[in-house]
Amino acid sequence: MQDITEGMHLGKTIFGDNGRVLLAKGTKLTKSYLQKIGELGYTHLYVFQPDVDKDWLLEGPLSDYTYSETLSVVKKSLVQAAKSRRFNLKEVNNVIDYVVDEIMDNPIVLYNLIDMKKQDEFIYEHSVNVCIISSIIGKNMGLARDKVKQLAIGALLHDLGKVYVDPEVLNKPSSLTEEEFKQVKEHTKYGFEVLRSLDDFSILSAHIAYQHHEREDGSGYPRGLLSEEIHSFAKIVAVADSFEAMTANRKYRKKVFKNDEAIRQLTQEAPKRYDTTVIETLKRSVALYPVGCRVLLRSGEQAVVVKATPDRAFVRILAEEKQERIIEVDPELQISKCLD
Ligand SMILES: [Fe+2]
Repeated sequence: MQDITEGMHLGKTIFGDNGRVLLAKGTKLTKSYLQKIGELGYTHLYVFQPDVDKDWLLEGPLSDYTYSETLSVVKKSLVQAAKSRRFNLKEVNNVIDYVVDEIMDNPIVLYNLIDMKKQDEFIYEHSVNVCIISSIIGKNMGLARDKVKQLAIGALLHDLGKVYVDPEVLNKPSSLTEEEFKQVKEHTKYGFEVLRSLDDFSILSAHIAYQHHEREDGSGYPRGLLSEEIHSFAKIVAVADSFEAMTANRKYRKKVFKNDEAIRQLTQEAPKRYDTTVIETLKRSVALYPVGCRVLLRSGEQAVVVKATPDRAFVRILAEEKQERIIEVDPELQISKCLD
C-alpha cells in the first residue's frame, strides 16, 4: 500500500465480506479510494499501469464472479448453520459446480495469489481458498470430476464446526490453555455431525471435516488416526489448510510465510505429519512466487512476477524506466528469494 499512488489502476476486484463488489478491476485509484481501502485492512493491492501492463491481466485460479459467489454462499451457510444446524445445500452444490468446472477446464490452473488483507473474520476467505487449493491438488492427482466435487465441498465446509466454538477462544491472540485447545479441537466433530445429518450430503465430504486435523504419525486430532486410517481427501485438505493458514495475512499473527517458505516447511514436516504425494502435488499446484511478488533473481537483478505457470515465471526486471523488460525464468533455478 505504501508504494501505491493516486492514478494507478486497480488490477484485481476488491470484494466485501458478503461477496459484493466494492471496487472493480480497472478502477482508477483516487485519494479517497486509497484511504478507504487502507481502512478496510488491506496491506497489498494489485495495480497496473495501462500503458505498460496491457498484456498482463492478472488471472487467478477462479473468475471474480465465481470467487465472490463462493464467498457469499459459504458465509451464508455458516451463519445459517450457527443458528439452526442446517443450511441450504442446494446453493453450495450450485456454486461448487462452477468452481470445479473452472478448475477442471483450465489447462494450467495455479494458485497464484497473494493475500492482500489483514482480517479478524477470515474464516470465509480461508474456506474458499482451501477449497480452491484442494481442488487444484485433486485435479493434479488425477481425480475424476465427481471426486473433485466431493473433495471441493468437504474442503469448503471443513471448518464449519468452528461456528460452535466460542469466538473469543478461536481468535485469541495468545497461546491457548489446555482446556481452550480442547474446545478448539471439537470443531472437527461438530462439523462432521452437522454435515452427516444433512440429506444428500456425501458422507465422504463430511469425513473431510472430521479428519482434516489428523496427521500421518497419529499426532493429530480428534481421534489420532494413523496414515492408513485417514482418507486421502482429508490428507489433501490437511495440506491445503496448513498451506493457506501459513501464507495468509491474519490480524493476530506474528509470522506470515511466503509461498516458497511454506512449501519448504511443509516438506520438512512430511512424512511425519503430511502425505508426501500430496506435498509433491502442492508444489505443482501453487506458485512458488505468486503474481505481484517482488523477487531477487540469481543474476542479482530485482524483478516483479507478472505471470506464473506451474513451471515458469514471467518477471519484469526493475530498472530505469526505459530499460524495464519482461523475461521468462525457471522459478526454482533462477529466482533466489521473494523480497516483500
Ligand atoms: Fe480446522
